Amino acid sequence: MNHDFSVVTHNLTKKFGDFTAVHHVNLEIPKGHIYGLLGPNGAGKSTTIRMLCGVLTPSQGEGQILGFDIINETEKIKQNIGYMSQKFGLYEDLTVIENLKFYASIYSIPKNERYQRIQMIIEMAGLTGREKTMTAYLSGGWKQRLALGCAVIHHPKLLVLDEPTAGVDPVSRRVFWNMIYDLAHQGVTILVTTHYMDEAESCDSIAFIFNGTVIARGTPKELIKTRKGNNLEDVFISYVEEQSGQKINQSFTKKNG
Ligand SMILES: Nc1ncnc2c1ncn2[C@@H]1O[C@H](COP(=O)(O)OP(=O)(O)O)[C@@H](O)[C@H]1O
Ligand SMILES: [Mg+2]
Repeated sequence: MNHDFSVVTHNLTKKFGDFTAVHHVNLEIPKGHIYGLLGPNGAGKSTTIRMLCGVLTPSQGEGQILGFDIINETEKIKQNIGYMSQKFGLYEDLTVIENLKFYASIYSIPKNERYQRIQMIIEMAGLTGREKTMTAYLSGGWKQRLALGCAVIHHPKLLVLDEPTAGVDPVSRRVFWNMIYDLAHQGVTILVTTHYMDEAESCDSIAFIFNGTVIARGTPKELIKTRKGNNLEDVFISYVEEQSGQKINQSFTKKNG
């Protein structure tokens, strides 16, 4: 295991019956990087992430997360990483503080440290004053920040975020990304999936996944240059066109002009 990498996979593959959802994926994510996994719906992003987080057993291949084996050391992985799934994993019928207390306990944070940790998270997420609000009544942006807070309460060195900003407003997305940058500056490695190309351009490096296969990777700048696009959205569309053999309509911004 190379200790400069938080995530290493070799030929990671997942089959559901005859269907291959993830095919021979090789990833190397350096410590402290923000790494974006991009691809259309159904590409295999969440399946890849579930294997990395130790919640799904690979059909083939191998990998290490923070030095732990993704097949034999799944409990250690779960205790040591932060994971925000597409569904956020919050208990809607618990209050903000009850959710935080719950996560503090499943991550085995010593009892005498819990109060302080929870206060820090409430501050980080801007949830002061909402401690006793039922989670179901929080708006999307607040829920998302609470979910992030729950995912980092045990100070993980790797944070895995599966479409964390889907459906939240632009202000909340900015606030959320500022929190991500802060964590990255503290040395936390971030693996994130997103459909927002401005977020993807903020990543140190990205991989494009299509039909379960990584078809391109590099820094956003490198990818834009190689594909001669104006931005990452052009690059994304051009890869999808190439892979699907279908022409996608030109940018919608000009339609009214
Ligand atoms: N448990 C499962 N059983 C069968 N097929 C699945 C299962 N989970 C995911 N898939 C299929 O695998 C493919 C990849 O899904 P997913 O990883 O969720 O894609 P993404 O997150 O990129 O949208 C999809 O075609 C999906 O329908
Ligand atoms: Mg998904």
